[in-house]
Amino acid sequence: MTELTLTTLCGALRAGSLNRKLMLEAVRQFEPARHLDGDLRLPLYDGDLETDGPPGPVTEFADRVRAADAVVIAAPEYNQSISGVLKNALDWISRVKGPVWRDKPVAIMSATAGRSGGARAQYAMRLALNPFRPRVLPGPELLVAHAADQFDAEGRLTNDRYIEALSELMADLRAVAASRG
Ligand SMILES: Cc1cc2nc3c(=O)[nH]c(=O)nc-3n(C[C@H](O)[C@H](O)[C@H](O)COP(=O)(O)O)c2cc1C
Repeated sequence: MTELTLTTLCGALRAGSLNRKLMLEAVRQFEPARHLDGDLRLPLYDGDLETDGPPGPVTEFADRVRAADAVVIAAPEYNQSISGVLKNALDWISRVKGPVWRDKPVAIMSATAGRSGGARAQYAMRLALNPFRPRVLPGPELLVAHAADQFDAEGRLTNDRYIEALSELMADLRAVAASRG
């Protein structure tokens, strides 16, 4: 079988992001695969920036999603919803020619500082993806609460409950991606 390509999107930009740590754990669980990281440091959507087509970084970002056999989205919870950078990226991608997300297997996960784990962000993420008709896995839900305490110094998850949920989620994502050929 040819090597699968996994594209990752992290909705938090800060260097110490707990969602990025979680996302990188997902990459390790999904392996072996070619890993492409989608850079969400895009300009704010502005119709005046697309008179000559989408800006270069947007095209590059969309190409990485288009090339994916599977996508992992780590969605931080901001004020009970997804972060602005994630919504901005989805809006930009919708301006690129051709279907980018259609039928793409997608796994959503989240890590929060508090006890919620990001359930509301995950629900909002599903709604935000709906227009693009990807194949978002229904579960298992991976909601990492009190996330600052859930990773060791090497950025590895320490709680067996989360490790098992992530492992199952990545096995399902791999199976769906592989079945699409
Ligand atoms: C603007 C903002 C809004 C936030 N809103 C929520 C929230 O609604 N629910 C929640 O559980 N945590 C919320 N938090 C806390 C985040 O869960 C926490 O900062 C988390 O570490 C962010 O993800 P990151 O570590 O990947 O950057 C918020 C943080 C920020 C900066």
